[in-house]
Amino acid sequence: MTVNILAIESSCDETSASVISDGKVLNNIIATQSVHEKYGGVVPELASRAHQQHLIPTIHEALSQSGISKAELSAVAFTRGPGLLGSLLVGGSFAKAFAFGLGLPLIEVNHMEAHILAHFIEDPKPSFPFICLTVSGGHTQLVLVRDYLDMEVVGETLDDAVGEAFDKTAKLLGLPYPGGPHLDKLAAAGDPHAFSFPVTSMKGLDFSFSGIKTAVLYFLRDRLKEDPDFIKTRMADICASVQFSLISMLMLKVKKAAATYGVSQIAIAGGVSANRGLRQTLTDLAEEMGWQVFVPRLEYCTDNAAMIAMAGYFKYQRGIFCDLEVSPSAKMKIGNND
Ligand code: KG4
Ligand code: ZN
Repeated sequence: MTVNILAIESSCDETSASVISDGKVLNNIIATQSVHEKYGGVVPELASRAHQQHLIPTIHEALSQSGISKAELSAVAFTRGPGLLGSLLVGGSFAKAFAFGLGLPLIEVNHMEAHILAHFIEDPKPSFPFICLTVSGGHTQLVLVRDYLDMEVVGETLDDAVGEAFDKTAKLLGLPYPGGPHLDKLAAAGDPHAFSFPVTSMKGLDFSFSGIKTAVLYFLRDRLKEDPDFIKTRMADICASVQFSLISMLMLKVKKAAATYGVSQIAIAGGVSANRGLRQTLTDLAEEMGWQVFVPRLEYCTDNAAMIAMAGYFKYQRGIFCDLEVSPSAKMKIGNND
């Protein structure tokens, strides 16, 4: 019998629904919340309210586009965490009610595991074991992936996520939120060696990105004193130099992780993997190191329900379901689903 799963993602500021049939993603409907732009960051209260408005139309579109009726569904998968509690509650409550109403099994999905499992939506797919660098607005992790549902965090940021470092730097430069993609675009025309920003290296495979914001803050303060038009005239060079330093910090640990675990397949996941500088640097490094690199299509890099559907499918195959009592978990960790 065909396995059809409806998946729901609502961990942050994207409301998304997807239908997967026998492991093949049929669609990936995403409603982006523009309400946060004017605040320069995601406002949790507004995010949960926007999820309430977007959720039913998004699910309706995913189901009708797929041509699969509610009666043909085999299960409902949803993001349990990590993420914003209020946002998770909206998607989670809907998923529970929907599954209960239709008498369907319910599958809870860890958002960070799903980012990694997005690599199995389309070819080429990595084989086990591989290292995944998960880089988003909330996380920076190096994960050793032994199997679809056997993952271990081997390194992570001790403070800010790298996406946060991109966004905070962009904010200092007066760029709109989220600043990561803007900084990326401007960096393409700049010289990455024009200015030098710190490359911090923590012990083992851990990261630290909080220093860069302060470094950029003081750097701009000093330069603007000399030349009030400094940002305007050197924007591309500043962006390229900050980006270079952030990517260097990431690459340093990817190299170390690959050597430590004897792995030559490297994957990247999460919103920051859309960064062109990061993709290029990783591709160049792979050639030098003899690695095989895997980068999902952009649509599957940022928050989306297709990755939740993929993760849900793997759990369905193994008969891993949850009950209606399960509550959202803002700080849910890979390999420790409490
Ligand atoms: O995974 P994601 O969509 O959401 C979560 O945080 O879970 O990641 C969003 C982050 C934001 O910090 C955004 O600025 C960053 O990914 N981002 C980028 C690029 N595209 C998105 N950062 C740098 N360069 C990009 N092209
Ligand atoms: Zn995410």
